[in-house]
Amino acid sequence: MQPHNSFDTDIESLIQRDAEVILHPASSITALLENGPQMIVDAKGSYIIDANGNRLLDAVGGLWCVNVGYGRAELAEVMQQTAKQLGYYHTFANASNPWQVQLADKLLKYAPDNLGKVFFGNGGSDANDTLVKIAWHYHALRGHHSKTKVIARQQAYHGTSISTASLTGLGGFHREFPLPLDFVLRVECPHYYTRGLAGETESEFCDRLIQEVADLIESEGADNIAAFFAEPIHAAGGIIEPPQDYYPKLKALLSSHDILLVADEVVCGFGRTGSWFGSEQLGFEPDMMSTAKGLTSGYFPMSAALISDQIWSVLKEGSAKLGAFSHGYTYSGHPIGCAVALVNLQIMENEKLVDQARDNGAYMHRRLTETLGDHAHVGEIRGRGLLAGVQLVQDRATGQLPDITWKWPLQVTNYCRDKGVIVRPLPSVGTIAISPPLTISRSEIDQLVEALSDAVNTLNM
Ligand SMILES: Cc1ncc(COP(=O)(O)O)c(C=O)c1O
Repeated sequence: MQPHNSFDTDIESLIQRDAEVILHPASSITALLENGPQMIVDAKGSYIIDANGNRLLDAVGGLWCVNVGYGRAELAEVMQQTAKQLGYYHTFANASNPWQVQLADKLLKYAPDNLGKVFFGNGGSDANDTLVKIAWHYHALRGHHSKTKVIARQQAYHGTSISTASLTGLGGFHREFPLPLDFVLRVECPHYYTRGLAGETESEFCDRLIQEVADLIESEGADNIAAFFAEPIHAAGGIIEPPQDYYPKLKALLSSHDILLVADEVVCGFGRTGSWFGSEQLGFEPDMMSTAKGLTSGYFPMSAALISDQIWSVLKEGSAKLGAFSHGYTYSGHPIGCAVALVNLQIMENEKLVDQARDNGAYMHRRLTETLGDHAHVGEIRGRGLLAGVQLVQDRATGQLPDITWKWPLQVTNYCRDKGVIVRPLPSVGTIAISPPLTISRSEIDQLVEALSDAVNTLNM
């Protein structure tokens, strides 16, 4: 049988056909009809190659996920090997496979000590869905049936399923959908640069935000609140890191009200910020944690949701009463996905990619600061490790964000693309996001910084 990759004889007609048959995720149909798709046909290391043969430095790592870089033969080989041995079997009704057990063991080795059990799924949204349900289940099993509301922040991104789009705090994901559902309570985005008040210090800003959560708990009643979801560093919302004391204070407040703190590590996990997990960098121990993306470096759709031993012990007692834990996915613990994740994490260990993310991340931030730190249209360069956000502003002195109709983030990303570099626009916050493969070299970082600074130099009001 012919492999299904013999498209290159007819790539032009596939490009034409795309708009006739595909509804693209998170894409403008109008733009697709005008410009056609961006057809990617090949990738190696930090570069992707489009149908016209253009080689582009992917400084976004796909969608913040290709941590070990593209074209890893080891991952292709383990997929083939596992598919031949056990292409699929489910994990319902206590069925298992050796790969999921080994993978859970490995994840628990790196996870915070209080986390003790792993639930596997298919992607970041379903991992967060799972954790909303586990939070509800945990409280209900202890007799607290009214603890159902979940706090999430403005500018958060937790996915696009019905519950996670509700948690997501970016308006575009709610417009013309009956969302967010009313189990979500919203609090301020912890970004001092854009949300701090005139004359307010960062530490006062932090205290104001913690007080806001305390007031919300008071007004809604702790008996009605199950959990608080937080990306350690907001990714799609603008690469936003809260003030230093924010998480320890938040955790203490939530714990005192029996509200679970859930770390959404879908982007921050697996080395991105220079530690295995972002919560470690930001100094807090979550009660539960969702991961996906870097788990398999995007080579297989897979997520892992981790829960604390304490939550597990409540679920265990509940099982004696209820029978099955009635939640799961056909592909939970997929043998191929688990085998890919194991080799992916082995590559990260062998090549010390977490250390590399920290060291080359520091280099990247230094180069960005040297080149753009004083630029009139750059207000802030933020992030950690190989995760960075460049805040565009009208004027550095006032910190006023660019008018959204100027489309500066798009202008910058289009310019960079013409120079052979992909960075990501975050238009609603006037920010450019960077999250390259953790394998990116220093000369590739130089290429990225040069294209970006040239692009920013072209901006005018
Ligand atoms: C922080 C965060 N959580 C959850 C998700 C949702 O993941 P998925 O698209 O795999 O459902 C994303 C996706 O970008 C994310 O950035």
